[in-house]
Amino acid sequence: KRPLRIAPSILSADFSNLGEDVRKVVDDGADWVHLDIMDGHFVPNITFGPPVVKALRRHTDAVFDCHLMIAPADPYLEAFAKAGCDIITVHEEAGPHLHRSLQTIRNLGKKAGVALNPATPVSMIEHVIDDLDLILIMTVNPGFGGQKFIPATLRKIEQAHALIGDRPIDLEVDGGIAPDTVGAVTKAGANALVAGSAIFGKAEQGSYRAPMEALRAA
Ligand code: DX5
Ligand code: ZN
Repeated sequence: KRPLRIAPSILSADFSNLGEDVRKVVDDGADWVHLDIMDGHFVPNITFGPPVVKALRRHTDAVFDCHLMIAPADPYLEAFAKAGCDIITVHEEAGPHLHRSLQTIRNLGKKAGVALNPATPVSMIEHVIDDLDLILIMTVNPGFGGQKFIPATLRKIEQAHALIGDRPIDLEVDGGIAPDTVGAVTKAGANALVAGSAIFGKAEQGSYRAPMEALRAA
């Protein structure tokens, strides 16, 4: 079993004060920092690109877990790698050449992840399982923070867990992850937990320690 990773999504952080917020969440115990990159085309929302990743890189040495909700992704992989992403996750639905995208990420010296939207079956990634370092099961439809967890995705977490077997692959979940859903997703096999509103929306006296501890405890 892979170690538990808490990955706060900075989508719910203070965008006018991002450097400080990232530094604080890492000081308060985050394992990874989850960066949501949206293009207004693959998902109906726009966030930020490589320049912001590069600027944040100066504030922390923590693992940058970069979730690319962009299509196409291939033309931007090198820019995100150079900007300082450590894990680069592309969506299975974002392009016709998933194997090539994953190879490109690994050739850039980064960990390669693939994300699956709620409607995409786990069987879509069977044939690239040995080209992966991380599987991200979306537990909401990507695009926005603060959405409700979709229970039908639990079965997919179990399937992905079985597919992984004893390979050194992290199994991540993203969307609606909070103390009330953590038990079910970890029981199904998830070890990396992305949470936005359940961390940045639940600061106690300016600290993110308590909401992250609440996730670990649950
Ligand atoms: C959703 C993003 C998530 C989002 C999660 O499109 O990929 O990372 O920030 O937000 P919460 O934890 O609030 O559901
Ligand atoms: Zn995400």
